[in-house]
Amino acid sequence: MSHPASTIPVIVPAPQRAEWRDGVCQFVESEVRLVRDASLPPEGYRIDIAPDGVTVASADDAGAFYAMRTLRQIGRDAPTARPQTCGRFVGTSLLDEPCPLPCGTIEDAPAFRWRGLMLDEARHFFGKETVKSLLDLMADHKLNVFHWHLSDDQGWRLDVPGFPELVEFGAVRPETPAHGCTGAPNDYRGNGQPYGPFFYTSADIRDILAYARARFIEVVPEIEIPGHIRALLAAHPEFSCGGNAPRVPRTHNSIEFDHILCAGNDEAVRFLERLYDAVCDLFPGTFLHIGGDECFKESWKKCPKCQERIRAHGLKDEEALQGWITRHFTDYLSTKGRRAVGWDEILAGNPGKETLVESWRGSQYATEAASRGHDVVVADVNSTYFSIPQGIADDPFDYYSPTRCITLAQAYAFDPLQGVPKNAAPRILGGECCLWSECTWNEYDLAWKTWPRACAFAEAVWTAPAPRDFADFRRRMAIHRQRLLARHILCAPLG
Ligand code: ACM
Ligand code: ZN
Repeated sequence: MSHPASTIPVIVPAPQRAEWRDGVCQFVESEVRLVRDASLPPEGYRIDIAPDGVTVASADDAGAFYAMRTLRQIGRDAPTARPQTCGRFVGTSLLDEPCPLPCGTIEDAPAFRWRGLMLDEARHFFGKETVKSLLDLMADHKLNVFHWHLSDDQGWRLDVPGFPELVEFGAVRPETPAHGCTGAPNDYRGNGQPYGPFFYTSADIRDILAYARARFIEVVPEIEIPGHIRALLAAHPEFSCGGNAPRVPRTHNSIEFDHILCAGNDEAVRFLERLYDAVCDLFPGTFLHIGGDECFKESWKKCPKCQERIRAHGLKDEEALQGWITRHFTDYLSTKGRRAVGWDEILAGNPGKETLVESWRGSQYATEAASRGHDVVVADVNSTYFSIPQGIADDPFDYYSPTRCITLAQAYAFDPLQGVPKNAAPRILGGECCLWSECTWNEYDLAWKTWPRACAFAEAVWTAPAPRDFADFRRRMAIHRQRLLARHILCAPLG
């Protein structure tokens, strides 16, 4: 191959195979020949770049879409293809000025079916334009599941038809921790400014779902039970144990300890069934995340209704009561043709087999879930939580766990299969990176924490399980970072 190394196209995430040959093609996006080849894997593609034009083969529409995103990524590096108007939506526009590409063949397909990114909009709200920009960037990096954390102690962000009180009480809080304050238990300073009301309307949801669908991204909304629920209880204190939850969401960053859902209250259970019905109407996709993490159960120990539920169902203790309510709702969603997703704490109970378990605390939970017959997605707290500092000098932004660190190399080393025995591996659908937002206030801050680590994550779930070549990724990433900056995405330095 006689192309100098500097003209070999840089692709992130790296394709499975690329071979470059003599010759140059003048690539024009609208002139690409698209062909179907049923022998190719789902979402996979083959690109042939020849002097007389570019041919894309794929077995499905998603494969053709990813091939075009690969071509746009490398085509935009040509001097003739500098974006006329720079900006964060540049990735959505056609590349229709001829740009020279070296001849060659790219064969590509994903290592994992579930390549997710979670955005927490309960703690801070980013809004529709930022979400669309993020979806576009996800598509550029071949990520295909947008897990949308829409409810938590600190905020309720969804205007559900028939439930106007949820945003009236849940979408605004009296204040938020001040900049520079992590919100750790003994580090709280409020900023004294009301935060909100911030929420999405049904029209916003339809708009975002259509935008995601056009990019082959599945949207998985998360409406949490039975903990992380104080914003809902602000609207319905009667559904907390004792009925006295405050009428405002939590202002402090940390998890609500005192007020969780009263699992012994039949009216609360009926209310949540109707609420999940309405959420399913808004989100027609298969999966609905019901949370289940970090539920402190002190109030259940003191609550006569919860204790009566434990007695009536012969449950062993409060852990088993969470198991009971989780099973109720995984079965409920199942009867509606949906599949529940839950954080790995739900394994303390016996969720329906169709429930997908999101393992965040370690590979032992992924292994346990898989061995109990669940499909699993891995969001490893030590390599995919990009709310944790990235170990770079002169970082101006606040982070939620300031003493911890996930460097680019650590993000790159993520492997959903790590620590999972071979016989459990077929149940591991893939991974998710998580953008928790306790200390993330706006799109710039968000981008800085997300990129370049989400590029590393994308390579971990698209290209291959470990080991991969970090030095080669870093070399390509130096070029790819310039692409992100050119479209006004505040990608952090590589560290
Ligand atoms: C989690 O980080 N509590 C899922
Ligand atoms: Zn109770």
